[in-house]
Amino acid sequence: MTKFVIDGGVPLRGEITISGAKNAAVAIIPAALLVDGICRIENIPEIRDVTLMLNILRDIGADVRLINRNCVEINASKIRTTRADYDMARKIRASYYLIGALLGRFGSAQVALPGGCNFGDRPIDQHTKAFKILGANVDVQNGYVMAESEGRLTAANIYFDVVSVGATMNAMLAAVLADGTTVIENAAKEPHIVDLANFLNSMGANVSGAGTDVIKVRGVKKLEGGMYTIIPDQIEAGTYMAAVAATGGEVLIKNIIPKHLDCITSKLVEMGLEVTEHDDALLIKRSAPLKNTNIKTMPYPGFPTDMQPQATVVLSVASGMSIVTEGVWDSRYQYVEELRRMGAKIQVDGKTAVVEGVESLMGAPVRACDLRAGAAMVIAGLAAKGTTEVEDVIHIERGYELIVEKLTAVGARIRRVEEEDNVIQKAQ
Ligand code: EPU
Repeated sequence: MTKFVIDGGVPLRGEITISGAKNAAVAIIPAALLVDGICRIENIPEIRDVTLMLNILRDIGADVRLINRNCVEINASKIRTTRADYDMARKIRASYYLIGALLGRFGSAQVALPGGCNFGDRPIDQHTKAFKILGANVDVQNGYVMAESEGRLTAANIYFDVVSVGATMNAMLAAVLADGTTVIENAAKEPHIVDLANFLNSMGANVSGAGTDVIKVRGVKKLEGGMYTIIPDQIEAGTYMAAVAATGGEVLIKNIIPKHLDCITSKLVEMGLEVTEHDDALLIKRSAPLKNTNIKTMPYPGFPTDMQPQATVVLSVASGMSIVTEGVWDSRYQYVEELRRMGAKIQVDGKTAVVEGVESLMGAPVRACDLRAGAAMVIAGLAAKGTTEVEDVIHIERGYELIVEKLTAVGARIRRVEEEDNVIQKAQ
């Protein structure tokens, strides 16, 4: 087991460069299966979920070449099978994008029901509804989602019952090579939806309206190879902004699209942070005590659910009482129990958390329950007095590239300890 050991209480100062967006990368990599030619994808974050997705593509026969740690070339001209390895696919939520891409290109996909973070029930009924509307037969057999169509899918109107990032992207993937024009209504509007549309268009697709709630996909016969650069990660940037809020200090967050961060920036400003906008950077400074505020998570452009745990940590060291309401997932407060070990005062009732700010948190051994909960524990450890040990960092490394290095560069005292190191330390 690997853990992060953090000696907290140090204000962060310096610069952090943001990596490519995880949730765009894990959709764009499977989207390369739709392309007849070589796709060169730049600004790929080097994280576990991306490595897993690339390995799944290799396993089904795609030629995947790492040009450097953040650039990959994928050639899906000679796919061996449309059945993704069960154990590989179920490790990652985004493996559901393989269904849309394989079905759209080859008329057939067999992919394990996806895994990923545990936020209560995570159905994929809207994904399967979209595939069925486009003319596929979809069934679950022995843990696999089996999707088949006779020839090309047929364009249609798809109205989603809930706003779903994954279902919107999967419908786009399936519709790109379909016969006719598909209209996706009540679509999600996250920046990574626009990024996927831009990727597909740069390979020859005809997708319009991404970023609004109606997306039109005019089917084309074929996608050709090309080059694409993934957008910066909104949530990674927000996580480091929250870290500066919790610890104090001054950090320039570079290589971002400030507009994507408005939903996060505005809340941090309400809490008393100073934010100065540059073309592709934000300067974050905390010189005054933090103030309480209320947060409700919502689909974009609302406050992102993927920033809820990190924001709750910031509020737990702000003055006064704050209310956090989770508006996307049924259950995303498992980390609160861990935060209480560090002295946070938080009461959870269903989708609401009441946070009573404390003077400061105290270091403790805690667990990363999932990716963003793990990031929240790191922020808590950076802000706390004393030493915090965050266990199960495998969750954090699924989604944050070089987190220890990036934080160390701005003065944080954080180190990654492998089990062997632990054993040696104990023996001494
Ligand atoms: N939903 C359904 N049926 C469906 C799909 C979704 O009822 O078929 C519901 C969900 O239960 C949830 C809501 O719709 O209540 C929104 O879920 P969505 O489909 O948007 O989530 P997702 O696509 O599975 C992605 C991100 C998550 C992020 C959510 C919301 C990826 C790989 N994952 O999940 O990211 O929380 O959108 O923004 O893109 C993370 O990065 O830490 C993470 C969990």
